[in-house]
Formats: sequence, structure tokens, C-alpha cells
Amino acid sequence: MKTTGGTDDQKRRAAEAAVEAVEDGMVVGLGTGSTTAFAIRAIGDLVADGMDVRGVPTSFASRELAREAGVPLADLDEVDTVDLAIDGADQVAGDALVKGGGAAHAREKVVDAFADRFLVVADPSKMADVLSHSVPVEVLPDARTTVSAAVSDLGGDPELRRAERKDGPVVTDNGNLVLDCDFGDIDDPAALAGSLSALPGVVEHGIFAGLADVVYVGTDDGVDVLE
Ligand code: 5RP
Repeated sequence: MKTTGGTDDQKRRAAEAAVEAVEDGMVVGLGTGSTTAFAIRAIGDLVADGMDVRGVPTSFASRELAREAGVPLADLDEVDTVDLAIDGADQVAGDALVKGGGAAHAREKVVDAFADRFLVVADPSKMADVLSHSVPVEVLPDARTTVSAAVSDLGGDPELRRAERKDGPVVTDNGNLVLDCDFGDIDDPAALAGSLSALPGVVEHGIFAGLADVVYVGTDDGVDVLE
């Protein structure tokens, strides 16, 4: 099930509240998506004001945006630590997220999990009691059919993600394909995460269970901070 989007003001409030945690000298993981874009621009403003911050991008898109915003960049293998990561989500339920609406969840998971603190930026449309959003599963192109069959065996309904304006599938920054897998209500996200990770040909899936430290939810008149 797709969630509806929040407003730009809600996204900006969440992002700017999370960026208040950025301190001089930090290495910051830069997530992907329209909400994180507000955070990247706000970090660019801090850099313009003289703060020493380096960003570790999670996608080609976040790298380009950070460049435009003037945020100095580093690759993950060039840094000893990531002090905090700021990233969006497609759905949030308790301590579990579904990510990967931008097909960037493989690199996002590496950076977000490595960070000392992982701050999620969201809007009210993303919040749920139980995860029910379709789960993006990045697969090796040759494994598309075998993984689809295995996802069906797990009770899911896989659908190859297609590019909106092109006649072909979405190809990730890593050269792979994405299966959007509808599992209905996901009562045990950690168990499903383990089952998906165990499938040969799966590069990474979009269930982030127990990784988030704080969720900033931008509303029409403020920010709810869930710790
Ligand atoms: C990209 C992601 C995004 O963070 C997620 O799709 C949320 O995006 P947005 O802030 O545009 O709603 O996981 O892979």
C-alpha cells in the first residue's frame, strides 16, 4: 500500500529540526528523497555559515544535491565514523521503517546502520500502527524471477518497479532491479527482514527494523519528536 505524501512545509520542519543535531566537525550521512532534500539544503546553510561538516551521500541524487548546496562530501570508505545520518522513510511503525521509495535503500541501509545516530525525517502521512507499505527489494537482474517466486512463497506479491517516464524498469545506482513486494500488514518486520535477507539474489530490502534512534515528524504547526 502506498502512503500519500505530506506537504513541503511538514517535510521542511522535520528536516530542519533534525539538522539542529548537526555539530561542528561532524560527518553526516545524507539520505535520499524529498524530505531529506530539505535537510541537505539546511546543512548547506550551516556550511555557508562556517561550520565544518562533511556529508556521506547515499545516492547519486543526494550527492548531486549536496554538491549544489555546497556540502563537502566524503565516501563511506574515507571516513572512520558517521556521527549521524538523516534520512526519510516511506512508512514508520514503532521502531521499524519501510524505505526505498527512491530505490536507494541498499546504500541508505549501510550508511544509516553505520551512523552513531540515525535520525528519521517524516510527515504524518508516513506514520502507521503496523507496517503495510510494499517492501522494495533490490535484486540482481538475473535473479528477478527466482526472487519473485521466493517472495510469493513468503506470502508477498512482487511487482517489478518500472520507470515513470521511460519504457523499462527502474535501475538502481548499483545497476540492479527493484521488486516492490506487497505483504499486507507486516506483523513481525524483523522476521520478514531476516527472511528476505536470506534469499539468494537479494542485494538489500527496504525494511529497517530497530535502526532508527529518533523520528522527527513535521506537522502543520511544529515537529513531533519520537525517541
Ligand atoms: C529513498 C527513500 C526515501 O527516504 C523515502 O522514499 C522517503 O522519500 P520522501 O522523503 O521523498 O517521501 O527511502 O530510497
